[in-house]
Amino acid sequence: MTSQPRKGLELRSTITTAGELVLALAEVEIPVPVEDQVVIRIEAAPINPSDLALLLGTADLATLRVDGERTVASVPKETLRTLAARLDQALPVGNEGAGTVIDAGDQARALVGKRVATSGAMYAQWKLARARECLPLPDGTTAAQGASAFVNPMTALAMVEALRREGHKALVHTAAASNLGQMLVKICAADRVPLVNIVRSGEQVALLRGLGAEFVVDSSTPSFRTDLVEAIAATGATLAFDAIGGGRMGSHILTAMETVAARSLTAYNRYGSNVHKQLYIYGRLDPGPTQLDQTFGFAWDVAGFLVTSFLMKAAPEAIQRMRARVMAELTTTFASHYSATISLREALRLDVIRAYARRATGTKYLIDPVQSAL
Ligand SMILES: NC(=O)c1ccc[n+]([C@@H]2O[C@H](COP(=O)([O-])OP(=O)(O)OC[C@H]3O[C@@H](n4cnc5c(N)ncnc54)[C@H](OP(=O)(O)O)[C@@H]3O)[C@@H](O)[C@H]2O)c1
Repeated sequence: MTSQPRKGLELRSTITTAGELVLALAEVEIPVPVEDQVVIRIEAAPINPSDLALLLGTADLATLRVDGERTVASVPKETLRTLAARLDQALPVGNEGAGTVIDAGDQARALVGKRVATSGAMYAQWKLARARECLPLPDGTTAAQGASAFVNPMTALAMVEALRREGHKALVHTAAASNLGQMLVKICAADRVPLVNIVRSGEQVALLRGLGAEFVVDSSTPSFRTDLVEAIAATGATLAFDAIGGGRMGSHILTAMETVAARSLTAYNRYGSNVHKQLYIYGRLDPGPTQLDQTFGFAWDVAGFLVTSFLMKAAPEAIQRMRARVMAELTTTFASHYSATISLREALRLDVIRAYARRATGTKYLIDPVQSAL
């Protein structure tokens, strides 16, 4: 143990009031840890869609260019108002990741040498954290295996918790070939929760069927809306989690649920059925406006869903149970897939940014800050 302050690189994202996105590596000093603090050498951090929102904001990627040590792009002026709270601040990025504890204060010495998962400002070489913010990973877990132990696993489990808590018996999920969607397929199969997966290509149908998914509907086919109605009829789904956000997908789901509910009506009711339909929007893969056609009666609710808010309200025992399951099934149910591992410097390269910004199936990137020389 060296107990010396460490200097290391940290990726920062700034959006200026002049309408420019600036990505750069800052040199930061990590203080010597005291009391329950630990210093973690960060070894793997995924680039999740939520990280992209902070990293790139609303920048126009067609304007990406290199400017000395920085990567810059123009940000459309009309979007700056929505970014007011972050303007001119060099923000650290990276929601989650894993690494090895290499130094600790007196109260956290037991963690030294342990590989842990933790969260916040993870696109950096070192991180100062409190011991209680670290989740020790099972022995033998690689940093890549532990890097995505929080966000997607806990969100997928939270969806099933919400289903039980709110008394639904089946759920619909969109962008279902995502890393999170693949986890949800496995959780629902194990927990016997009927799941309707909505994807947008034949390859994605095959991918999910390969994982054992029973109901997979493809929004790129002409029969999508009728297929969706029949899948909802077969499962009884009245709950949906939509990662797309923009456009009409949420509306199509509520309408399909209402179509199924209306089959049980014995007489016409101009207000529709009284079967409650719940749509949670939990992602913004399509950043456009959410469009609701109002073709689904009056018994419905649309709300946002954020895993951190859910966990803040959840009972400690529930969180403990969810975390224990993630750790026990980290390399099976909750395995994430990465198409490339890059250094912090590579994360600023124009071609690399364009690749990871696509958010396409099977193209999630992992940052390994150890590869980034000072
Ligand atoms: N609210 C929360 O607390 C919370 C927590 C965790 C994750 N999330 C959200 O969960 C979602 C999945 O995350 P992930 O890390 O699992 O993603 P991922 O592995 O990167 O996969 C993204 C998926 O989204 C699809 N996609 C992209 N743009 C789309 C669009 N406009 N319409 C339909 N599908 C689209 C891609 O399919 P193609 O190949 O067809 O493009 C791909 O299958 C993200 O939206 C993320 O923000 C939210």
